[in-house]
Amino acid sequence: MQKLAIQGGYRLNGEVKISGAKNAALPIMCASLLTADELHLANLPDMHDVKTMVKLLQQMGVRIEADTFNAAQVDKLEAPYDMVKTMRAAILVLGPLLTRFGEARVSLPGGCAIGSRPVDLHIKGLLAMGADIHIEHGYIHATARRLHGAQICFDLVSVTGTENLMMAAVLAEGVTVLENAAREPEVVDLANCLIAMGAKIAGAGSDKITIEGVDKLHGARYSVMPDRIESGTFLVAAAATGGHITLTGSRANTLDNVLEKLRTAGAMINVQDDRINLSMDGRPRAVNVRTAPYPAFPTDMQAQFMALNAIADGRAIVVETIFENRFMHVQELQRLGAQIEIEGNTAVIQGCQSLQGATVMATDLRASASLVIAGMVAQGETIVDRIYHLDRGYEHIEAKLSALGAKIRRIN
Ligand code: UD1
Repeated sequence: MQKLAIQGGYRLNGEVKISGAKNAALPIMCASLLTADELHLANLPDMHDVKTMVKLLQQMGVRIEADTFNAAQVDKLEAPYDMVKTMRAAILVLGPLLTRFGEARVSLPGGCAIGSRPVDLHIKGLLAMGADIHIEHGYIHATARRLHGAQICFDLVSVTGTENLMMAAVLAEGVTVLENAAREPEVVDLANCLIAMGAKIAGAGSDKITIEGVDKLHGARYSVMPDRIESGTFLVAAAATGGHITLTGSRANTLDNVLEKLRTAGAMINVQDDRINLSMDGRPRAVNVRTAPYPAFPTDMQAQFMALNAIADGRAIVVETIFENRFMHVQELQRLGAQIEIEGNTAVIQGCQSLQGATVMATDLRASASLVIAGMVAQGETIVDRIYHLDRGYEHIEAKLSALGAKIRRIN
């Protein structure tokens, strides 16, 4: 199993190019199932989850060459357990398969390190659109002659739930209205790709999305948006190490809340077009964080801010409202000397002057990122074990950090 060895105490300095967004790339790749024509995708990030999605689509019969996807001959309408358990986003094939082919068999995701994460809202929405759904042998088996439009109000804001139903609705008969829809920029990116393919969608980015079904979609060219979580992760890493970095190819208007929190922590931030410049002098100030659906503070940045707060001046309160079990990184940060107490979904962090290097274990994708950040500010060497989590969702992270001056290497 691969690990990262990090020598702490080096500031990040320089320029780093932001990759395409994982959480936009995965649904957009699934959108290729909606047409028999070619979908050309640019800016797909080179990371494990994208490779898993390529494998899954190929198993179904989608021909994929370089960045071109062609689902003219799909013959297996199934996402097997092996794939869904390693990557929950595989659930995103459900809507497209069902609406175009009238059938889909998708494994239930099962347990997950950051909480139970059910898919009931996806199922409820498809039922309202006329699908016939049975859960059998751990699989969701859905059939429909043709889905029809429906008025669907989500009980909870769900990102992939919104995306799945939006993809199902583009080929359904009539109009679908999604209320209490997710407003995440990745939902908008998917909608823009679908519109480029001929879909009729209005309101993406608001909590009410209206989709008028069409008979057919066509091919398109589309470039995936920059990753706001990768952007945020590098900015926090720079702030924690007292560095000066510039992100290129990023999109500041998808990061408003994160940039505001970094400014509260004492960072100087300047934005010019697709460049975000961060300078941090001295120790960060503690900053309170409460996760909530977009445009509020993203749960996918919570762990990284926990690492920042661990070495900040003062006491911070971090409240996680999206996932019930997303404090797995806390125990590991404590092994590095962080002073954190947890009460339910609230963590209280008393910042300390420095952390000490130790061996820690990554438990999920963003938890891994927080341990890497903590390792970069800890005294001595930190070994981060189980970095396959990190490889799932960050493109060439140690190469990018090394180029910025971090002392980090991969060991077997
Ligand atoms: C997506 C992101 C993930 C991010 C999360 C929240 C992708 C591929 N993943 O995950 O990185 O952390 O949004 O911003 O885009 N829920 C239900 N029933 C459902 C669906 C969701 O109860 O049918 C609950 C979940 O357990 C969770 C909350 O709703 O508590 C939000 O989850 P959701 O937005 O669906 O997360 P994902 O789309 O899986």
